[in-house]
Amino acid sequence: MMPSVKEVLLSSEDIKEKVREIGERITEDYRGQRLLLVGILRGAVVFLSDLMRHLQLPCEIDFMEVSSYGADTTSSGVARILKDLQEDITGRHVLIVEDIIDTGLTLSYLRRSLLARKPASLKICALLSKPSRRKIDLDVKYVGFEVPDEFVVGYGIDFAGAYRNLSDIHALKPEGGRRPSLPTFLSEDL
Ligand code: IMP
Ligand code: MG
Repeated sequence: MMPSVKEVLLSSEDIKEKVREIGERITEDYRGQRLLLVGILRGAVVFLSDLMRHLQLPCEIDFMEVSSYGADTTSSGVARILKDLQEDITGRHVLIVEDIIDTGLTLSYLRRSLLARKPASLKICALLSKPSRRKIDLDVKYVGFEVPDEFVVGYGIDFAGAYRNLSDIHALKPEGGRRPSLPTFLSEDL
């Protein structure tokens, strides 16, 4: 029998409405300023591309790729920069755009690393947050949704590279509380 791996946690309509709301807040908060959005590859790509179209501001985008060591589904807490920014952020208003904050370790590392480059301001915007998993205090200015401690996919967010193209955000719910291996997920189920 096929394990039940899909449950829509947030529909594309929920997400759309929230992204518009965050876009309006950012527009208000940064009025009169030029903003640099820093998207964290690869999960934040879908969120960033929707969000930026709700900003009524002069804005630019750049990307970074950060990886925690290991390919399992729990964060190891050790981050390394795989792809750095192209822009010099000194004196710029920078907003980090992330898909999901789990322990907070990745962003906390990234924040420290970007602060050293002396931006005019540095804030964080995350579509999802799992507060129950936080290991480090992190000031997140914009949060779309707080989600329970479940592994989620869709709207840019992946499991081992898969499922980023789903419009809704799903919780992976394997039977028996164990996460099945990728081939099971890649069934017709999603
Ligand atoms: P953190 O350092 O523990 O906050 O890890 C954040 C990163 O872990 C995110 O950028 C995601 O890439 C990944 N991550 C955390 N939770 C999930 C999840 O539920 N689904 C997919 N990726 C996740
Ligand atoms: Mg990520």
